[in-house]
Amino acid sequence: MLSLRDETTPPEQFRHVTKRLTTLLMLEATADFPTREEWVTTPLEETRGRVLADALVAVPILRAGLGMLDAVVELFPTVRVGYLGLERDEATFEPSEYYAKLPRLEDALTFVLDPMLATGGSANAALKSVKEAGASSVRMVSIVAAPEGVAALEREHPDVHIVTASVDRELNQSAYIIPGLGDFGDRLFGTDP
Ligand code: PRP
Ligand code: URA
Repeated sequence: MLSLRDETTPPEQFRHVTKRLTTLLMLEATADFPTREEWVTTPLEETRGRVLADALVAVPILRAGLGMLDAVVELFPTVRVGYLGLERDEATFEPSEYYAKLPRLEDALTFVLDPMLATGGSANAALKSVKEAGASSVRMVSIVAAPEGVAALEREHPDVHIVTASVDRELNQSAYIIPGLGDFGDRLFGTDP
């Protein structure tokens, strides 16, 4: 986590650490998921084990959420993936949706992936979109959250469990998370001005 915050971390290392951290967050986010018993034949005898009972859907919010997707697909190869493109206005901090492509959600546990939960506007809009598209069981996975963002989600989507690696101190006047790590999308894709 410290290397994500470190301003000298280059994009290739930033991507690598994002992936590793997301793996840990996903293990936490799925630890209590319902499982069902399944039988398997080993070379020696039949035995049983447990598998996830429900289908999984991951919905990364573009762009920054893409940095979390590889970890999820590697951990859960059968996951269905949807995409939501949201961009936050620099003056009003209001998100606007520019892309949406969602798979079937009704029968699945849905994860919305966005590393930064700042005002919570983008996450709230994404949660509204996936619910309107049929999702009923939803979790929000982020890497850094501001207390303001957590409160905003708890107000609008009290049913959604939030998993995050850090709740930071506050937002600054530009709605950046403090101490935070800067603009996640720019650092992930090397588009820093
Ligand atoms: C960032 C980030 C979140 C959003 C968080 O995206 O990835 O989606 O801001 O802010 P909020 O909680 O105040 O809505 P941004 O709009 O910068 O787009 P990008 O990922 O394409 O850079
Ligand atoms: N989006 C980011 O990428 N970083 C912040 O601190 C806030 C919003």
